[in-house]
Amino acid sequence: MEFAVWTKGLTTLAVDCLVVGVFEDGELGAEARAVDAACGGRLKALLARGDFAGRSGETLLATDLPGLKAARVLLTGLGSRKQFARKGWRKAWSAACAALARTRIASCAVALDRPPARELDDYYFGRGIAELAHSTLYRVNDLKTGKKPPAAALARVLAGPVRRAEAAARGLKHGAAIAAAARVQRDLANLPANVCTPTFLAEQARALGKRPASVSVRVLDERAIRREKMGCLLAVSQGSAQPPRFIVLEYRGARAAQAPVVLVGKGVTFDTGGISLKDPPGMDEMKFDMSGAAAVIAAVTLAAELRLPLHVVGLVAAVENMPDGRAVKPGDIATSASGQTVEILNTDAEGRLILCDALHYARRFHPAAVVDIATLTGACVIALGHHHAGVMGNDQALVRQLLEAGVRADDRCWQLPLTEEYAEQLKSNFADFANVGGRDGGAITAATFLGKFTQGLKWAHLDIAGTAYYSGAQKGSSGRPTPLLADFLIQRATG
Ligand code: BES
Ligand code: MN
Ligand code: ZN
Repeated sequence: MEFAVWTKGLTTLAVDCLVVGVFEDGELGAEARAVDAACGGRLKALLARGDFAGRSGETLLATDLPGLKAARVLLTGLGSRKQFARKGWRKAWSAACAALARTRIASCAVALDRPPARELDDYYFGRGIAELAHSTLYRVNDLKTGKKPPAAALARVLAGPVRRAEAAARGLKHGAAIAAAARVQRDLANLPANVCTPTFLAEQARALGKRPASVSVRVLDERAIRREKMGCLLAVSQGSAQPPRFIVLEYRGARAAQAPVVLVGKGVTFDTGGISLKDPPGMDEMKFDMSGAAAVIAAVTLAAELRLPLHVVGLVAAVENMPDGRAVKPGDIATSASGQTVEILNTDAEGRLILCDALHYARRFHPAAVVDIATLTGACVIALGHHHAGVMGNDQALVRQLLEAGVRADDRCWQLPLTEEYAEQLKSNFADFANVGGRDGGAITAATFLGKFTQGLKWAHLDIAGTAYYSGAQKGSSGRPTPLLADFLIQRATG
């Protein structure tokens, strides 16, 4: 899809459709008034008939209005004028995109009223236009054999009104790149686990790294992983017929020898729970347990695509967690790459076991910051539901950067406390500590476990178990937290 900014002459633009907003009180937005005047009051007449109420999420397509170059006008509801803010604007534009996708409209000009600049400046306006257009039009890469419905025709979007065209254009460019990265994450995560194995994930990382030539990709196979003494990662992997992979992506966009941001992703390509086997209902969704890994691959390639002046390293621990005669058993003790020993009381708490070895590996880069991303705990879903990811860390400035990036990117996270008392729950009689600390505060004790491996590093942890994918009728990857990570990296590069 192609994006550009329009600055004037809305009614004379040679596009298939104009997209205008209507408030709930039936009042037209400023841009819609200009369109209405050009077509001799036909929009007002339509509203007077009561055919469109301007409710948030509603759309109506009007065709062949006089006085306009465009053959169609799509009305989209802005909701209540008093409460109109960024959220309402986003919903109006997404609803419009969904409506456009059902037509043969190939080009449109957006002319929605905009919330005040403190809510949505020109840059984030551009980003929102491009990101939402792409994410609304996203189709799951399914393996259905029937005839595919035709792809949406929408190929060109002119965005406005804008105050500073340059900032909006930069936003459009970034938004399209973020959407492409989110698509990488979604496509990988939506694949079934019999296709998306650790080996496949490594191959995909290699291929994606080749596109922006500035990303180098190294893959450690089982032997190399053994050489790194990643005993916890190998304990998880030992029950699977699929060999593990440890993927290292590196993008050097910074001039000097800048300390890198290291992103670490949980790449459990399928999580059965192992010997601590999960209940059958919903187990298929554990193919999404590599969403953190997919987000890391997406974020590193995005940094390269945008040529951000940053040094970014992505580390992906890719394994499959299976029950088997060779599988790790409750009570087994593994030695992590850090040398610390872990009593594996529950083989379903496998994410932290692969991450602890990956976090230790991060030390060799002398990172400025380390952020791990993982579908780590059901407890985080209980605590926060599906709207906010959980964030914890040992460096409040870093945590704050992630919280703020989430707000700006509309991909929010919420901090949970990570104080020393929780360590009590991880005590073991047989090893340095156990890998589980009981049900209470499960998202926090998981982070506490990771914290044992990040001492001296500036580290934060994103638990995306509740946000990385949708269940139910909309089952599929959400592409989160790629927008958050993108904003975090862009901010570090520019601010
Ligand atoms: N991958 C799961 C966490 C998860 C649960 C992600 C639900 C998405 C939705 C993780 O490996 C896991 O099984 N965690 C256990 C930890 C427990 C055994 C301490 C959990 O949350 O039940
Ligand atoms: Mn598990
Ligand atoms: Zn898991």
